[in-house]
Amino acid sequence: MSEKQTIIVAGRVVTCDPARATPDDPLGVIEQGGVLIDGSRLEQVGLGADLLRRHPEAARREHPDGTLTPGLVDAHTHAAWVGSRAGEYAMRMAGAGYEQIARAGGGIVASMRAVRAASRDEITRALVARLRRMAALGVTAVEVKSGYGLDETTERRQLEAVARAGEDAGLPRLVPTFLGLHALPPEAAGDRDGYARRCAAWLEGIAREGLARYADAYVDRGAFSAAQARIVLARARELGLGVRLHAGQFADVGGAELAAELGAASVDHCEHLSEASILRLAEAGVRAALLPVASFTLAQAPPPIETLRRAGVRLVVASDANPGTAPTESLPLALALGVRSYGISVAEALLGATREAAVSLGLPSGVLRPGAPADLVLWDLPEESAIVQPWGTARVRLVMREGQVIVQAS
Ligand code: NIG
Ligand code: FE
Repeated sequence: MSEKQTIIVAGRVVTCDPARATPDDPLGVIEQGGVLIDGSRLEQVGLGADLLRRHPEAARREHPDGTLTPGLVDAHTHAAWVGSRAGEYAMRMAGAGYEQIARAGGGIVASMRAVRAASRDEITRALVARLRRMAALGVTAVEVKSGYGLDETTERRQLEAVARAGEDAGLPRLVPTFLGLHALPPEAAGDRDGYARRCAAWLEGIAREGLARYADAYVDRGAFSAAQARIVLARARELGLGVRLHAGQFADVGGAELAAELGAASVDHCEHLSEASILRLAEAGVRAALLPVASFTLAQAPPPIETLRRAGVRLVVASDANPGTAPTESLPLALALGVRSYGISVAEALLGATREAAVSLGLPSGVLRPGAPADLVLWDLPEESAIVQPWGTARVRLVMREGQVIVQAS
């Protein structure tokens, strides 16, 4: 037996393991359950008393009034930013719309100016501080997009900052995504096709150096067309990168169709997807990533959840952490809003921030089952439905990434 074995026992162990799920219990919960951790992996998952009896030498943490879940996985963030857009929030509350704010020099291009003026170390420091706070909320993996550089040097600088932050095993693990096609930089002078071709050309070096695992594009009214996104995303595919899309935030302009065509990992936002688009997503097995904090900030109606469900599209829920439309770092807040404002169930919310999010990022975490990485959260909450309540404060007791404690409440 290895010396590094630890057993954690909790009142409820929410495995998110499809092998344990039943129609009445989609989360595969084990009451008075436990996990045996060996090094960085889960060795066994089962009844706490059995594990304690069979492995008397293992270190033990017993929390009969706590809930154990997989570490949360935030599958859509723009966390590598600096600067402040707080003034924009005030404009928005005074009635200005997204597109009006962008025309007034705010929005994504405002963050672009701040990020272009920052060094890689400054971006890294801001990102690391944010990731620490995310970890304290139970997050053990985070997708981070570029998209505030909008020129080759600064897009790469953002991705290099993600790579730097990703070297710290005391933070959540990171998945970098290239989002050159986020907004049109001023120097592109209205030439969206030309800018898309330039983004596609930057991808080769980015892919070769392993700076991104996915490419994303913002396909919407007032953003990029599906044809422009295809220029970048098809190239990403050729270079072996995965693909994800922002689509249907304001209008359905063909982003979901493109996602289905390219076998995207997810289509994100989804407030305005047509039924035909949703059926295409279902056929192609593309996940829908819901971003309820952004639609809360923009006071939008929810996505067509019932149509997504009926079509069998798997749901992911993410924070969309960004300085404009989702000024939050809290995936638990996104879950609370998903349940309250979108009407998704507790199980849909939790699976959407664990297993489904992990699958969409190609990660092996997001479930508690033997062989999976020991990425987990012990919540100071008696049951999983409490995780999606809007506490506004951290309710975690312990967060582990690959068997190492990265957060421990005092
Ligand atoms: O996901 N929709 C486009 N992108 C972001 C907004 C980013 C920003 O405003 O800086 C989003 O909501
Ligand atoms: Fe986004």
